[in-house]
Amino acid sequence: MKVDLQDKVALVTGGTRGIGLGIAEALAANGAKVALVGTNSEKMQTALAAVRQHGQEAEGYLCNVAVTEEAEKTVEAVLAKFGKLDILVNCAGITRDVPLGAMKDAEWDDVIAVNLRGPFLFTRACSKPMRRAKKGRIVNITSISGLIGNKGQANYSASKAGLIGFTRTVSKELAGKNITVNAVAPGFIETDMTAVLPEVYKVEIKNRIPLGRIGLPQDIANAVLFFVSDEASFVTGQILTVDGGMIR
Ligand code: NAI
Repeated sequence: MKVDLQDKVALVTGGTRGIGLGIAEALAANGAKVALVGTNSEKMQTALAAVRQHGQEAEGYLCNVAVTEEAEKTVEAVLAKFGKLDILVNCAGITRDVPLGAMKDAEWDDVIAVNLRGPFLFTRACSKPMRRAKKGRIVNITSISGLIGNKGQANYSASKAGLIGFTRTVSKELAGKNITVNAVAPGFIETDMTAVLPEVYKVEIKNRIPLGRIGLPQDIANAVLFFVSDEASFVTGQILTVDGGMIR
C-alpha cells in the first residue's frame, strides 16, 4: 500500500516489535519520520535499525505508557526533537490471560493500565499539539476480543472494548479540530504475543479464518496507512476489523 506521508511525524507506542514495528516500518516506507515508544532497550535498537532502513529519521523513547509523567515527558521529547506531531498510533498492549475465577487483581489492573490508560494518556498529550496545528490522525489498535469477547480474556477484552468506546467519543470531541480518531481491530496476527499460544490452538484458530491464513503485522499496517492518509480525511470514529473474515 502506498500513501504520501512525506514530512509527517508519527509516534507509535509498542513500536519495538510485532504489529507496532510493522506499522512503524510501513509509515517510514511511505515517507514519515517515526518516534518509537517501547520498554525494552535492546529491542528498541533493533527496531530503530529496521525503521531507519526505509531512509527516514527515527528516534526511540523508553517509556511505560501507563505512567502519566513518562507519557507526558515522552510526547514533550518527541515534539522537541521533531517540532510537530501529525500521527499517533496507540499500539502498545499486553495480555494476562486467565479465566475469571482465577484472575488476580494485578492481572486485571495491569492489562487495563497498559491497554486503556496508555492510549488515554498518549491521546490526551498528543492531541494538544494536534489541536494547535488544527490537524492530526490518531489510530488505536484494539482487537476482535473487544468486539465479541474471548474466554480467558475478561481483562483484555474489557480493555479493548473500552478502547473502542474511547475511540468513538474522542473522534467526536476532536473532529472540530480536524483530527480523526479511528481504530483497527485485528483478528489473529503472527507476533511474539501469539507465538506463546499452544500449536493446537493456533491450528484451531486458522481453521476458523475464512481467508485461510493467520494475519501478518503488514495486514494491520495497511489498514493504519489508510486511516492516516490524506485520502481518509472524511473518515473518523470507525472501527475496521482486519481478521480474514473471522467474526463475520
Ligand atoms: P507484542 O507483544 O509483540 O508487542 C507489544 C508491544 O507493546 C511491544 O513493543 C512492547 O514493548 C510494547 N509494550 C508492552 N507494554 C508496554 C508498556 N507498559 N509501555 C510501553 N510499551 C509497552 O504484541 P503484538 O502482537 O504486536 O500486539 C500489538 C497490539 O495489537 C496490542 O495492542 C495487541 O493487543 C493488539 N492485538 C494483537 C493481536 C495479535 O494477534 N497479535 C490481535 C489483536 C490485537
